[in-house]
Amino acid sequence: MRFIPLKDKPAVGRWAAQYIVQRIKAFNPTSDRPFVLGLPTGGTPIPTYQELVRLHKEGEVSFANVVTFNMDEYVGLPADHPECYRVFMHRNFFDHVDIPAANINFLDGNAENLEAECLRYEEAIKGYGGIELFMGGVGHDGHIAFNEPGSSLSSRTRLKTLTSETREANARFFEQDISQVPKLALTVGVGTVLDSRELMILATGSDKSRAVQATVEGSVNHMWTISALQLHPKAMMICDDPATLDL
Ligand code: GLP
Repeated sequence: MRFIPLKDKPAVGRWAAQYIVQRIKAFNPTSDRPFVLGLPTGGTPIPTYQELVRLHKEGEVSFANVVTFNMDEYVGLPADHPECYRVFMHRNFFDHVDIPAANINFLDGNAENLEAECLRYEEAIKGYGGIELFMGGVGHDGHIAFNEPGSSLSSRTRLKTLTSETREANARFFEQDISQVPKLALTVGVGTVLDSRELMILATGSDKSRAVQATVEGSVNHMWTISALQLHPKAMMICDDPATLDL
């Protein structure tokens, strides 16, 4: 695992965005396939999205040949709810770049058959030949996507019950009211994430320092699903200074 400690949150955003741009540019001339990018939501990737939008507006990068798959989605939130992950992604990223609408993939948390929806997603990823680069964040309890503690490290895309810790952490996006935070979510599995050809995890803030420590110094275990990073042949963790406090 490559470990990249940087000064602060904006530095992490700049580094991650530059890396993604560099990878997209290096990929395009050699392939007629699209560049397949896995993406997260949450507060952590926002500086990265802002930087990607800036670089796009300056003509540094085009997303015309990029296909995206988001990591997860709440179950049962109205499709136009501001915290629905699809809405979040359009607001923070997709609406400001040139990615074709048909290239954007989400799990549908309102699908009639959630199990079939998860299978469809796995097949769609496979249909593109897998994910080239998966960017992710990490929860306070070390979850990757919505793979809560206790998730199998070989899990695939499925329905998960969110822990009260995760719902409490995400209540900040729902007027601090935990009762508004959905109890269920669809998420790619740890195995799905590990299948990507490259994995890049961002962690910022001292509240993530315990999860960073578990990732870098702990053993691989299903109670800190982010620790599966250690199993990936091409993984990196990019942290700001406060997130390294427990190392
Ligand atoms: C949510 C998301 C994760 C994300 C995590 C951390 O639970 N499902 O994908 O990594 O929160 O979020 P934040 O970046 O807001 O701390």
